[in-house]
Amino acid sequence: MTLDRLAFRAVLGRFASGVTVVSTVHDGLDHAMTASAFSSVSLDPPLVAVFVNRRNRFHGAVVASRQWAVSILAESGQDAASWFASPGRSETDQFGRVDHVRGDVTGAPLVRQAIGWLECETWAEYDGGDHLILVGRVVSARVLPDDTDIGTEGWDRPLLYYRSHYAALLRSSADERSQVALRAAIIEDGAYDEGQRGPGAHERG
Ligand SMILES: Cc1cc2nc3c(=O)[nH]c(=O)nc-3n(C[C@H](O)[C@H](O)[C@H](O)COP(=O)(O)O)c2cc1C
Repeated sequence: MTLDRLAFRAVLGRFASGVTVVSTVHDGLDHAMTASAFSSVSLDPPLVAVFVNRRNRFHGAVVASRQWAVSILAESGQDAASWFASPGRSETDQFGRVDHVRGDVTGAPLVRQAIGWLECETWAEYDGGDHLILVGRVVSARVLPDDTDIGTEGWDRPLLYYRSHYAALLRSSADERSQVALRAAIIEDGAYDEGQRGPGAHERG
């Protein structure tokens, strides 16, 4: 039986996720792309994975540099998510308009409008069809302070992605820490459709 590709894409799009920016420095240039196909892999050793379309410019840069960072975006990072997903943006000054700091270990740019940051060294690369499965050993991890109240404006509010839309968590109230993920609200169309590029592991529909 042949696979219904539309259904395939539609199912993948129904996997709600966070949104990251993965970044690296290669040949003195900053490279970054928006990625929702990010996963934890192992606690010991500490490993994570991102899935990189081989056609993306970021692919060549990160394969060469073998050092990269992951910024887990906050709601306020939505503009950065859109920017690092826009095709044809200049390669020479990708972070010119994005507030960032440098990772202590890798020197990769970390997006400030994020709620957690990882720096990684490439641990393994696997064939993932039209994507590269890039596994990184985490060499540095930073998160917002644990005691930051989840209701505090601007703090600890992850950017979400579902069916090509950016979304935000709706919380019941500031003090209900145990009921964080109650509901999500669509905030904007993310306009991410790789239909022109063929199917991918992280496709949304
Ligand atoms: C919400 C969202 C999630 C994305 N996730 C991924 C992903 O996980 N892997 C990927 O290769 N591309 C992903 N993309 C697409 C890339 O961000 C996009 O193709 C980008 O322009 C690549 O930039 P580059 O060619 O400069 O590397 C995503 C786009 C959006 C909007």
